Amino acid sequence: MCGIVGYIGKRDSQNILLEGLKKLEYRGYDSAGVAIHTNAGLELRKSKGRISELETRLEAQPLAGFAGIGHTRWATHGKPSDANSHPHADNDMKISVVHNGIIENHLQLKEELEQLGYQFLSETDTEVISHLISHHYEGNITDAVRMAVSQVRGAYAIAVLSEHEPDKLVAVRSASPLIIGVGEGENFIGSDIPAILEHTRDVYILNDGEMAVLTKDGVELMTLEGNFIAREMFRIDWDLMTAEKNGYDTFMLKEIHEQPRAYLDTMRGRIDEGKSILLTGVGLSAVEIRGLTQIHMVACGTAYHAALIGKTVIERLTRIPVEVDLASEYRYRMPVIHKNTLVIVVSQSGETADTLAALREAKQWGAHVMAITNVIGSSVAREADDVLFTQAGPEIAVASTKAYSSQLIAFYLLGMFMAQSLETLDQKALSELIANLERLPSQLEDMLKDLDQIQLLAELISNQNHLFFIGRGLDYSLAMEASLKLKEISYIHSEAYAAGELKHGSLALIEEGTPVIALATQELLMDKTVSNIKEVKARGAYVIALAMEGNTELEKTADQVIYVPRTISLFTPALAVAPLQLLAYYTASIRGNDVDKPRNLAKSVTVE
Ligand code: M6R
Repeated sequence: MCGIVGYIGKRDSQNILLEGLKKLEYRGYDSAGVAIHTNAGLELRKSKGRISELETRLEAQPLAGFAGIGHTRWATHGKPSDANSHPHADNDMKISVVHNGIIENHLQLKEELEQLGYQFLSETDTEVISHLISHHYEGNITDAVRMAVSQVRGAYAIAVLSEHEPDKLVAVRSASPLIIGVGEGENFIGSDIPAILEHTRDVYILNDGEMAVLTKDGVELMTLEGNFIAREMFRIDWDLMTAEKNGYDTFMLKEIHEQPRAYLDTMRGRIDEGKSILLTGVGLSAVEIRGLTQIHMVACGTAYHAALIGKTVIERLTRIPVEVDLASEYRYRMPVIHKNTLVIVVSQSGETADTLAALREAKQWGAHVMAITNVIGSSVAREADDVLFTQAGPEIAVASTKAYSSQLIAFYLLGMFMAQSLETLDQKALSELIANLERLPSQLEDMLKDLDQIQLLAELISNQNHLFFIGRGLDYSLAMEASLKLKEISYIHSEAYAAGELKHGSLALIEEGTPVIALATQELLMDKTVSNIKEVKARGAYVIALAMEGNTELEKTADQVIYVPRTISLFTPALAVAPLQLLAYYTASIRGNDVDKPRNLAKSVTVE
C-alpha cells in the first residue's frame, strides 16, 4: 500500500523523508520518491524498486531543503516505473504531489486537461491532481488544492509541496488515512504513524473531507469548504511494532479488518451509477465474450478456492461452462483448450511458479488469458492478455485473507460484466445485484465489530486434533478455504467436505465431541444441509453452524449458530469468510503460534 511522508521545519528534509519512507517499507511498495524545495526550486528524485535505489540516487544528487514530501508506491494505475513513481509535478515544475488511493474519474479529467494543453508524463491517476492544482492556482495554493480536489472523485490522501509557497505543505484526506505530526519548529505529514513516530508522538488525525496547511511554526486544520477546525491533539503511546500493525496484534488480524476497505477499492470506479459494470483494463469485447465456449480457471491454494467460487458466479450469471484446476495439475493434464477458451489465472502475488507455468501453457494453446491478481507489474500481470486487478493492497501475513475476499469481489464484477454483454441478466436483476454488492463493505464492517462469539468458539476448538467443515454449493467452496486457513496457522488437522458426501466414508471419523463447522448460508440448500447436520449430530458431533440472519431454525439442530448479514446467496461467501478467518486466527493465537509466519510456509511460492 502506498505511503506518504512530509516534512517542513528547520532541519534538512532529505534524510527525514528517507527515514520516514523506510519506516513504511513493511507495508510493501514497488517504487519510491521525494520532492524537496531547494535553492534551485522544486526538485524530484524517484525510482522504481527499493528505497535503497532512491538513496543511491540521492547520494549521487543530494537535495538540500527544509520542506519536502516523500512516497512509497504500490502500483494501482500504471506499472512500477521511474515515471510512474511519485511525487508527480505539473508541467512548470512548480507543484508536486504525492497521493494514496484511487482517483475514479482520472481518465475524464486527463482528457479535459490534455485539451487544455497539459502534458502527462506518467500512466498514473495521481498526475491529474498536480495539473489540476496548477490549473486552479491563482496566488493561493490552499485554494488551488481545494478547487482541484473538488473535481476529483475517489479515495485519496494527498500531500502537496509548491514552489509558489514553499513555506507551506498542504494535505487533504478523503477516505484514505492521513495524520499530521506536530513538533517544535517543525511539522510532519504521514499516511501512517510509523512514518513520523521517531520525531513526534503528538498528532492530529484528519477526517474525510478535511485538509491541513502546515508551516514550520504551525498547523491549520480546515474543512474542504474552508471552515477552520479546532481539534484536540492525539498522543500516540504505541511502540513502532504496534504502530506498523496499526494497533492490531498481527498483520493477519489487521488484514482481516482491512477487508471492507479492500472491497470498496476493488469496486471503485468499476460501477457506473449502480446500473452497469465498467472494467477498464479488461480488453475482452462483447463479441469475444459472446464467442466464448468455455472458461478454465487456474490457481493455487487460497486463490484456487476463490476460483471455485468464481466458477459458480460466472456459470450462474453467464451460463458459460467453467472448469477449475489447480495450476500444478493443469499443465500436465493436457487440458482441452481452443481459441474460444478463456483461461483465467488467479494469483495474489502474480509470481506463483505453477500459476505462471499454467498461464504460459494456456497461451501456447492459443487461449485468451485473463489474470486476476493483486500486484501490478507482476509476472502474471505482464504476461496475461487482460488483467483484472484486485485492489486489496499488499498482503503481508502468509495466510491470505483480504486478497482472497477481494478476488471474490473481482469475480462478482467480472460475472456481471460478462452478463451485460451476453444479456443473460435484465437491467432490474443487474441493478439489484449491484445494490447488494455495494452493501457488502458496510455489512462486513459491522460483522467485524462483534467478535466475542468467535473468540469463545476458538477456545472451544483450540485443543482439538481434528475437525470438519461441511457445506453445499458455495458453502462447500468456502469450507475449503476455511479449512485451509485453520490448518495453515493453527496446525489443527481439518477437512472440508461436501455435506452430502460425508456419509460415503468419512462419517466413520465422527465421534463424541468431534467439532463440525457446518456452513449453511445457501437458503435453497438449507433443508439438505440440516439433514447432514443431523447425521453428524447423531454420531456425537459438536456442530457450529453458519447461517444467514433470520434462519433461526438452525438453533434447534446445531449447538451454536454464527449469523451472517442478509445478502443474496451468491454473495454470502464474501461475508461468511470473515468469521471463519477469525476462528482460524484466534485458534492459532490461543495455541501460541506465530500467526503471521506459519511454519514451513512462504508468502510467495516461486518454485514448482
Ligand atoms: O500468490 P498466489 O495467490 O498465487 O498464491 C497462491 C497460494 O500459494 C496462496 O494462496 C496460499 O495458499 C495462501 N497464502 C494460503 O493462505
